[in-house]
Amino acid sequence: MYLKIEKLFFKYQNPGIESRFILKNINFQIHGNEIIGLAGQSGSGKTTLIQHLNGLLKPTQGHIYYDDKELFSKQISLNEIRSQVGIAFQFPESQFFNETVEEELAFGPKNLKKFSPSEIQQQIQDALELMGLDFEKFRHRNPYYLSGGEKRRVALASVIAMNPALLVLDEPTAGLDHSGILLLENLIRQYRIRRKSLFIVSHNIDSLLEFVDRIMILHQGEIVFDKPKHDFIFSEEKILQWGLKPPPFMNYVQPLKKYFINNQNRITSRTELFNALTLRSVL
Ligand SMILES: Nc1ncnc2c1ncn2[C@@H]1O[C@H](COP(=O)(O)OP(=O)(O)OP(=O)(O)O)[C@@H](O)[C@H]1O
Ligand SMILES: [Mg+2]
Repeated sequence: MYLKIEKLFFKYQNPGIESRFILKNINFQIHGNEIIGLAGQSGSGKTTLIQHLNGLLKPTQGHIYYDDKELFSKQISLNEIRSQVGIAFQFPESQFFNETVEEELAFGPKNLKKFSPSEIQQQIQDALELMGLDFEKFRHRNPYYLSGGEKRRVALASVIAMNPALLVLDEPTAGLDHSGILLLENLIRQYRIRRKSLFIVSHNIDSLLEFVDRIMILHQGEIVFDKPKHDFIFSEEKILQWGLKPPPFMNYVQPLKKYFINNQNRITSRTELFNALTLRSVL
């Protein structure tokens, strides 16, 4: 898959309220097989931006292309784009509209009209189990009456069950306990193995740096950074200016440098710092 956003501007049109541009001159591309993290402070426009990726919102100005076919033109239907780009929403309830977990999970794959009933059954079981929920135990439960963490897992599973080429997760760790976060890490690894694309939204750069290949920062509706994560070497001051929390590991890189093996000078996550030190002690 290949997705391109070109000169996108967006404002919400609410009658009687003067609106401002929430997104300004957004340009980026997503090639297949990429794990991307999008960070930005609250209100910077992250959720608004990702809702453009599958045509839930229409740009006020600008263009979105999926495999060179333009969205909101006759070249590609919204149904088709939604079968390729799956979004797990920030607030899981907002995506539930069925009375049982089983119906909720089957709804998306059924709508795509490309899988047999037995394939759908298999996909929804696999997706639920990938998120650590037992199919038999949860299939008849009402998604609205699950705990916060269970809702998050069902919401993630219902998008995974559609097997999209690009999976977009909006603040996926919210409401998840430690075991839920480990499952999410496993999901990221699976996507890497299957060579599909993931777009993860979070305001926490520290955890994004652990898992993604590329980091984008949205600040007041503009993309102020979009590079491989190994180029994410910034002063605390800059990160604070973007309204984000500097990753704590950054404070330790300089003072501990003399203990690194191989003069590594590109440490971009907690794990890399840990490895640079433990490898030395093993040697
Ligand atoms: N339906 C709407 N109508 C008008 N304004 C909206 C609407 N939805 C969001 N906004 C405004 O757009 C801006 C960006 O909101 P958005 O939800 O995209 O931010 P975000 O980066 O996802 O924030 P958070 O980290 O809190 O989830 C905010 O100022 C918000 O108040
Ligand atoms: Mg949001």
